Amino acid sequence: MLYKIEDQATSKMDESRQGEALFLERKGQALGKFYYIESYGCQMNFSDSEIVASVLSDEGLSSTRNILEADFVFLNTCSIREKAEETVRKRLKEIAALKKSKKDLMVGVLGCMAERLKSKFLEEEKLVDIVVGPDAYRDLPRLIQIAEEGDKGVNVFLSKEETYADIAPLRFDSNGVSAYISIMRGCDNMCSFCVVPYTRGRERSRDPFSIVAEAHDLFNNGYREVTLLGQNVDSYKWQNPESETWVRFSDLLVLVAEVNPLLRIRFSTSHPKDITDEVLRTMASYPNICKYIHLPVQSGSSRILSLMNRTYDREWYIERINSIKSIIPDCAISSDIITGFCTEDEKDHQDTLSMMQYVEYCMSYMFFYSERPGTPAARKLKDDIPEAIKKERLNEIIRLQHQLSYQHNQKDIGKTFEVLIEGNSKRSDQMFKGRNSQNKKVIFPKEHGLKPGDYVLVKIESASSATLTGIIDN
Ligand code: SAH
Ligand code: SF4
Ligand code: F3S
Repeated sequence: MLYKIEDQATSKMDESRQGEALFLERKGQALGKFYYIESYGCQMNFSDSEIVASVLSDEGLSSTRNILEADFVFLNTCSIREKAEETVRKRLKEIAALKKSKKDLMVGVLGCMAERLKSKFLEEEKLVDIVVGPDAYRDLPRLIQIAEEGDKGVNVFLSKEETYADIAPLRFDSNGVSAYISIMRGCDNMCSFCVVPYTRGRERSRDPFSIVAEAHDLFNNGYREVTLLGQNVDSYKWQNPESETWVRFSDLLVLVAEVNPLLRIRFSTSHPKDITDEVLRTMASYPNICKYIHLPVQSGSSRILSLMNRTYDREWYIERINSIKSIIPDCAISSDIITGFCTEDEKDHQDTLSMMQYVEYCMSYMFFYSERPGTPAARKLKDDIPEAIKKERLNEIIRLQHQLSYQHNQKDIGKTFEVLIEGNSKRSDQMFKGRNSQNKKVIFPKEHGLKPGDYVLVKIESASSATLTGIIDN
């Protein structure tokens, strides 16, 4: 059982803790209270929750991973598909039941759904006390105060500058080995199906000094892998106000890769229209930049890509894939695919299947199209593919991807990979799990003296579509 600070005050709080407590009380903060955060959606949201945790902890709130113990429950929400929003609403119903037995429980909705629905949320979901968009997390202490005084706290202001560069994320759910570093926010692309430009606002890049400093800090604290995050990392650009020189994504990769050769670098998401050969050459020349690119194609049909406003066509995408394969021959490539987009016919669908076969994706996230209110597609195109067909095509795509992943992994049998150990395998505590540079999950029997954060050579003996299994081969 975790003790709250107020319990400790009567028993074992030492003088320095009392001093700290008085200081916090003087700041008028919610001393001794616990917050609980649950995150939905993409890696950006999980990374943002670490910023939120940092802001809340600075206000004297303590983190708990037990929702029953919480005084504040925050849901960091996603709007990308209708189903993502349904999941949040379902969770809010469960929390409503919790609130019945704990009257003063405060409920906050953060993230993209908060931004999309704004104060409409408060009308739709009566139990919500606080609504905060992705750019307003610094304002949480004030919004909490408003809520504690019995009003509703709302801030959904989208900023052109906010990058939270000076806030050290509180890594409350971490395995101590891998961490996210947010390098930019927002998105200036206008993919017609996508709600992100409306929920996260304009694209802006974080200064490289604070990014490199965060990577250094993580390395010094035992972390061995960082994932640089942005909706479109290839369009990262930051201008030094003194020298007026630009730092582009390939420059940033070099800066972070040089923090330490033992620190692995990953990044997500790359955009097919923006990924340059310079980025690919940088990846090839640094062994610690992982040989893995998530390059969402969305559709293999040029006609559909144009309706999606992805600003590349099938030929362009294939040319980028050829470049990856020639500059980084051992690179694994994964994708996002949407099936059943407006007007998609059988030929378009076949184009997607043939694209998957051409690229030989090691993995894909696959979805059927879900119309989002307010997006260009919702305004201009008819969501005209019947759900049964969307699902049929999706199943076909999933079946093909399963086959491709299996084939991709079978080719790894007999190879030896450097694996970064992340922790115990789910299957058995006699086995470790880790990842190779290509982002494939590798499991292998433990050996004495090894621990999470260590690198080890593993020879692959068998493979399923999801996992490689091997033995240590040092
Ligand atoms: N910035 C990333 C994607 C972020 S959203 C990129 O440009 O690739 C993650 C994925 O969700 C998208 O790649 C897309 O495949 C999917 N997605 C986005 N909007 C969707 C919608 N309306 N319906 C179904 N899937 C969607
Ligand atoms: Fe959405 Fe397109 Fe931006 Fe990705 S690049 S977040 S799909 S608008
Ligand atoms: Fe969802 Fe927002 Fe990410 S809509 S996918 S949480 S940017």
